[in-house]
Amino acid sequence: MNLSRVTSAAVCLAAFVLHAAPALAQTNLLPVPSKAEWNTGRFKIEGKFGVAFHGARDPRITAAITRWRLSQAAIGLGAGPNRRDKNCSLGIDCYAAVRGQTQSVKDDESYTLSVDEHGAYLEAPGPLGIVRGLETVRQLTQVENGQFYLPTVEIHDKPRFAWRGLMIDVSRHWMPVETIERTLDKMSSVKLNVFHWHLSDDQGFRVESKIFPKITQIGSEGKFYTQKQIKAIVAYARDRGIRVVPEFDIPGHTTALLAAYPELASAPGPYSIAHNWGIHTATLDPTNERVYDFLDKFFGEMAGLFPDLYVHIGGDEVNGTQWSGNAKIQEFLKAHGLADNNALQAYFNGRISDILKKHGKSMIGWDEILAPGLPPSTAVQSWRGKDALAAAAREGRFAILSHGYYLDNPISVSEMYANDPAVGPAATLSASERALILGGEACMWTERVTPAALDARVWPRAAAVAERLWSPMGVTDTDDLARRLQIWFPLRTETQAPYGGAAAAIPGTIQIEDYDRGGEGVSYHDFDGVNTGEGYREEETVDVEPFDGGFDVGYTRPGQWLKYTVQVQNTGTYDLGVRVSSAEGGGSFHLEDETGQNLTGSMNVTVTGSWDVYTVVHASVKLRQGQRVLKLVEDTGGYNLDSMAFTAEK
Ligand code: ACM
Repeated sequence: MNLSRVTSAAVCLAAFVLHAAPALAQTNLLPVPSKAEWNTGRFKIEGKFGVAFHGARDPRITAAITRWRLSQAAIGLGAGPNRRDKNCSLGIDCYAAVRGQTQSVKDDESYTLSVDEHGAYLEAPGPLGIVRGLETVRQLTQVENGQFYLPTVEIHDKPRFAWRGLMIDVSRHWMPVETIERTLDKMSSVKLNVFHWHLSDDQGFRVESKIFPKITQIGSEGKFYTQKQIKAIVAYARDRGIRVVPEFDIPGHTTALLAAYPELASAPGPYSIAHNWGIHTATLDPTNERVYDFLDKFFGEMAGLFPDLYVHIGGDEVNGTQWSGNAKIQEFLKAHGLADNNALQAYFNGRISDILKKHGKSMIGWDEILAPGLPPSTAVQSWRGKDALAAAAREGRFAILSHGYYLDNPISVSEMYANDPAVGPAATLSASERALILGGEACMWTERVTPAALDARVWPRAAAVAERLWSPMGVTDTDDLARRLQIWFPLRTETQAPYGGAAAAIPGTIQIEDYDRGGEGVSYHDFDGVNTGEGYREEETVDVEPFDGGFDVGYTRPGQWLKYTVQVQNTGTYDLGVRVSSAEGGGSFHLEDETGQNLTGSMNVTVTGSWDVYTVVHASVKLRQGQRVLKLVEDTGGYNLDSMAFTAEK
């Protein structure tokens, strides 16, 4: 265990408490519990905070108590004794032991927390309820004049959805172990319970295979997780009650794999790792038995590393170019009565499902896999819209929602928060079909996201998704969420995220206009010149709320600009942070108000010459109440003006 990281996490958790206004602390919980009856009194924690255990023990409970004690120690609250069946300030009772069991969607995460003037009592049917409940106790702890309290309350809490996930793409940008662990810490603080690990793509294959060493020797550029690291991360996640679902994207998004094993491709190699984004043509050959032999051995090896029932096979954005251009593959289609490339992918998925089943696994994939013949046990992750979510459930499959939860897109906190898996097409389902919608996942694709930028892009929006998926459907007050996020937000300060603080603290609307009036529009996603699909809009209007993480807003040239219409609520001096990268050296830009007045003077920036290395330029900006239009104008250079954010009022 890395002690400095533990300490820094504990300090941040301390910040959570210290920033909480004591009078409001009882309503500060994030996510909001399913049922809480608040009483007027409070429990004064005299001396040290001791814990009495009853019932079943589990390593996850022990680990959760250790983390909880660290957070309490960080705010100055000493640890009392750990006792079994003795009277202590916090009683914990776990009814049933499920030691060693693989975590699953069936796990009971419910808990009851009762606090009266004499102490606190946390009870749960299983260890995960205790893990979740201790996060609640942590958020409830108040400090006032050096004295510690818990508000008196009776909480009966359980999640609305069983699958509450966060996906991180570690192929486009590899994320170090400590970045993943830090993310798991934050996930557990908002009761997220699935870490979907997008481990392979065109730009890198990030898992060590002892059977197929070339996967990382050739396919990773040295950036991968050893099997030991994988096991450690899976254990770290389990300690926090988080399942780890690995994704190996097949048969497309496989350029890095095919760089290592070109004999598995649908067209002759050689292949090399992709360094640009988009949909690539390299695709596994579903007509080649060697492909299935390879994947059988590979998934068998991975089954020993990843205990979860589910293996994600991607299946998205399969480019049929190689299949259509290969006469042998087209003959195979005819011989097997497969109508087209989609049918060929369905055939492939059936074969993969059998392989996974042999290794004790179930399959999940992106919504492209939803096609006739898909094995019934296959779960579907809906990303292109909500239709596939309902369609999958109607077919009797488990389904999860990610459409509208893409953290790489400029979707605001309130939009993510309002995006309910049960609303929309799912509303037409029967109750039993609707029960197949297991939840959702926020997704962080990292084409433009380095490890240093990850936290600012994931949080706090993923916390809004966490609440949507945990709390009752009727919990929808965005203002109250924003208030609670401000309390939760100091958790972010450990991260050295580019903004270093609260981004976009000025409520209003950002309107990103077509900056050069040349009809190219604003690209906020793709920067490789292929601005298509959701990554491209003529004009984008998004709500700006406290804690929005800024936006990728595109590539500008001298004289071009981005216009942000902001409703400034309070006159004051604000810190403006603009995150830039450039492969073309330095330059300068400035900010104008609606009258054309230059608010910042020339902001110069020197950059290192890589699109991947960001620099944040700060300026103090005086803003009047009611001031509306702000324009970021590039004067010299050639930038990716990646993100712009107003940080906290000074
Ligand atoms: C995806 O975003 N291609 C799943």
